[in-house]
Amino acid sequence: MAILMPCLPEGTLPSESIIMQVFEILGCALTDMAKEGLVSEALVDSFNLPIFIPTGNEVKGVLSNIEHLTIEKSEEINYPPNLSNLEDVRLCIGHVRAVMEGILCENFGAELLDQLFESTSPKLVLCIADLGCSTGTNTFIAVQNIIEALELLYRSRSRGLDTDQIPEFQVFFNDHSSNDFNTLFKSLPPNRQYFAAGVPGSFHARLFPNSSLPFIHSSYALHWLSRVPIEVMDESSPAWNKGRIHYTNAPKQVGEAYATRFAKDVEFFLSARAQELVAGGLLALFLPAVPDVLSNSDTVIGTELDLLGSCLMDMAKEGLVSEAKVDSFNLPLYYTSHKELKELIGRNEHFTIERMENLNNPKKHVILPKPSMRA
Ligand SMILES: C[S@@+](CC[C@H](N)C(=O)[O-])C[C@H]1O[C@@H](n2cnc3c(N)ncnc32)[C@H](O)[C@@H]1O
Repeated sequence: MAILMPCLPEGTLPSESIIMQVFEILGCALTDMAKEGLVSEALVDSFNLPIFIPTGNEVKGVLSNIEHLTIEKSEEINYPPNLSNLEDVRLCIGHVRAVMEGILCENFGAELLDQLFESTSPKLVLCIADLGCSTGTNTFIAVQNIIEALELLYRSRSRGLDTDQIPEFQVFFNDHSSNDFNTLFKSLPPNRQYFAAGVPGSFHARLFPNSSLPFIHSSYALHWLSRVPIEVMDESSPAWNKGRIHYTNAPKQVGEAYATRFAKDVEFFLSARAQELVAGGLLALFLPAVPDVLSNSDTVIGTELDLLGSCLMDMAKEGLVSEAKVDSFNLPLYYTSHKELKELIGRNEHFTIERMENLNNPKKHVILPKPSMRA
């Protein structure tokens, strides 16, 4: 004979058991419904579940008193849902419904059941963040795509049977506090199916509570450095970036100073996100990068910035702007490569790369001549 039954772990109070907590939630929901006049209070008072959950030792004690019976093997099977996790609460309430539906129907009638379980089963809320959202409209397109993908996932999980399984979405739009959040909020899609909130602050530090987000997205923002590397503004440093506004075609020390700053920023960014994501959460990053085989000076953006710097120097020579001003100005932008980013993510113990892909840039073949080669 094999007996499989729910038991309380030794030394646990019944009130600490998850199943008992679910029964208590159901009891409270029935009492509330009685107060609202949806069910008679007397009916609730007279209803008690004919269920007792013993401890493993209690079961063994009872069985050992039965003649002709010996216990060959007794084993604890762990069922560790955590009631602080909403998905587990929903799952547990779903199991209780499957088991108790008959007895509850008999006592309270079938019409009451849906309402009872709807009021006890918390609606799942998924929080999504877009970091460096700017004022729209790209952020709205990205968020819509993410929500549609997640909805599809939940629908396929519930095989289209239970629309109640589709979560509600809360979207956090983040950017610097100086971002024009008014424009962002005014242009929110009117027919959106999510709740929206703005979160001001730098993504190089913490923005959200611990383990609060299953999905974080950031597009075309992480290449902005937290600040210009100090060495490139220091006249006494070999990394002083005289006569340029970026590291394209600059001495290698300038590029190295930028790369070091980027590595530190990515480290801060990933450490903060690791704390904010739930276990198993997903971080989707899009950022402009230089192909592994090219240098920054071979790219469109690199040559454009170089050209801009050289125009400013021309203007300085004409006395339209001070040369010292141009020398001290540097753009806090860094264009990483596939290889470098992979290495930086690999250094962080909290993340693994699920997928990494190069997206095609239609301008990739247009390379401007170096300023020195212009006529
Ligand atoms: C080029 S826009 C990208 C906007 C949008 N994500 C998109 O894909 O079109 C870069 C945005 O990142 C923001 N950003 C840059 N550094 C940031 C930081 N440390 N924290 C938050 N936002 C930042 C900028 O303010 C800007 O709005």
